[in-house]
Amino acid sequence: MNLKKSEDLFQRALSVIPGGVNSPVRAFRSVGGTPVFMKSGDGCRLTDEDGNSYLDFCNSWGPLISGHRHPDIIKAIQNQSELALSFGTPCENEVLLAEYIIENLKKSVPSAEKIRFVNSGTEAVMSALRLARGFTGKNKIIKFDGCYHGHSDSLLVKAGSGLATLGTPDSAGVPASYSQETIVLPLNDPSSLEKAFEENRNNIAAVIIEPVPANNGLLIQSRDFLQFLRDLTLKHQSLLIFDEVISGFRIGFGGAAAHYGITPDLMTYGKIIGGGMPVGGFAGRSEIFQQLAPDGPVYQAGTLSGNPVAMSAGLAQLKLLTEAHYSQTSALAARIADKINGANLEWKAAQIASIFWLYKGKEAPLRANQINRDAMTEYAALFRHCMENGYYIAPSGYEVGFVSSPMTEKDVDGFSECVISFFQSR
Ligand SMILES: Cc1ncc(COP(=O)(O)O)c(C=O)c1O
Repeated sequence: MNLKKSEDLFQRALSVIPGGVNSPVRAFRSVGGTPVFMKSGDGCRLTDEDGNSYLDFCNSWGPLISGHRHPDIIKAIQNQSELALSFGTPCENEVLLAEYIIENLKKSVPSAEKIRFVNSGTEAVMSALRLARGFTGKNKIIKFDGCYHGHSDSLLVKAGSGLATLGTPDSAGVPASYSQETIVLPLNDPSSLEKAFEENRNNIAAVIIEPVPANNGLLIQSRDFLQFLRDLTLKHQSLLIFDEVISGFRIGFGGAAAHYGITPDLMTYGKIIGGGMPVGGFAGRSEIFQQLAPDGPVYQAGTLSGNPVAMSAGLAQLKLLTEAHYSQTSALAARIADKINGANLEWKAAQIASIFWLYKGKEAPLRANQINRDAMTEYAALFRHCMENGYYIAPSGYEVGFVSSPMTEKDVDGFSECVISFFQSR
């Protein structure tokens, strides 16, 4: 396949951008070869700089639930661009997006009383944790092995995402003292949580979890485990934070909180709420938000936060998320999983709503350490095979695939057959 322009661009990128990329997993280190430089997107298809076209299962790592350049989102961005790109003052679009989110989210997640917008998921989580500490007056945070919550210092401990790909359990440049306030526990293990609460009496500010862990494989947890977290945090006056940067507005409008019927104290969002523009947000109970600046002593701010263009894109995106949207995209992802799981392969597909993940093994893993790491070389070959056949999946076997609404049954069947024929021919 011709990737000449991508190769040339990558060489140029290497001389001015560290590793040639602005986010590590894009460098293709775990699948080998040159990263593909994309030029345009249309619906569910991507076209690279050399003119190769792909069905896109990456979808910018999740935000593009309605595919590329949905006309409503483009129109909203164009309309706002005619007025202004940024103010640094309050603007109506922030109010409109916040009202839309809160009014609709509250129906299924009663704690969604307030939302503050930021520019990324990392910022949302970092700020939510500070707020949790400020509100409770406690210091420690419990997170789970394999859950990724962005790249802020205290959370780069046993995270997933690019770190799983690179095999780095931790990041250099993070003082040990920063991560000392972070307790890392295995998923799906109630007794280790009870022990941690016992050993850190009155000092656990919050438990944070990706309620649908999707950054280190797709480690779908039981409702019972999530309920256990809710009960335990209430018992110890700690907060429960659902990091819904991926699952929010994807598992359903109310995210995983609504799906499982469990109400966390704080939720963090990103990806979909920006409609493809850089946005994050954290939401939760008014009582907690009274502690946030300017009302309270917990500081948080942002030059471009609540950016009018991003807010308008987000609002247009969220208005597209009807029940019909969710049943269509979930059915397509289930169709992929059913086809692959019915093919009697050593590889299987885990799936929830419009998210799927290919893994090698009989049972879908529930914890990060159950993932078959030896299978990643095979995944690299699958990745190449998919690319050569016009399917763009994540360039790492630890990352999930996202279905978007412009996809058809024919599209996803073509993909499933491509995966099945690859494994059958080996
Ligand atoms: C669950 C979760 N939290 C936080 C983040 C960080 O978001 P961002 O990359 O926008 O900083 C991500 C990114 O993938 C994520 O999946």
